[in-house]
Amino acid sequence: MFRRVAIASLSALALSLAAAPASAADGQQLFNMQCKMCHAGGPMGPALNGVAGAKIASKPFAYSPALKAKEGTWTDANLDAFLKAPTQFAPGTKMMIAVPSDENRAAIIAFLKTLK
Ligand code: HEC
Repeated sequence: MFRRVAIASLSALALSLAAAPASAADGQQLFNMQCKMCHAGGPMGPALNGVAGAKIASKPFAYSPALKAKEGTWTDANLDAFLKAPTQFAPGTKMMIAVPSDENRAAIIAFLKTLK
């Protein structure tokens, strides 16, 4: 229930930002609204510092078998594919949040690269 309400209001926020150009600053805003609640070092999601370029599912976190089974690293292309359609990139993943807007994904990926 909470999850459904949260996702609905988050998509409304994402839509209102859809026209913004892709930049790390925009990405940070999007991240704070759509991602941070799970990716701030708590049990809800893995920490994302240094995730760009890192091996997929390599943080100390209870990943799904689906994500653990993925080979490779978080290249731009993999991040883009995952954020566009997580359950297609890794069927069975525990992360359900998708970012349909190309521009918003680009901004978020630019921001992720600043997280060292
Ligand atoms: C409801 C909680 C939740 C939200 C919101 C969320 N994530 Fe996640 N995220 C997860 C979980 C859980 C995993 C691990 C997935 C798995 O094990 O299948 C994950 C995994 C990831 C990974 C891979 C990390 C790794 O170590 O391989 C990235 C990158 C990521 N999320 C980015 C994002 C971004 C960007 C957003 C916002 C658009 C976001 N997440 C929103 C829960 C969430």
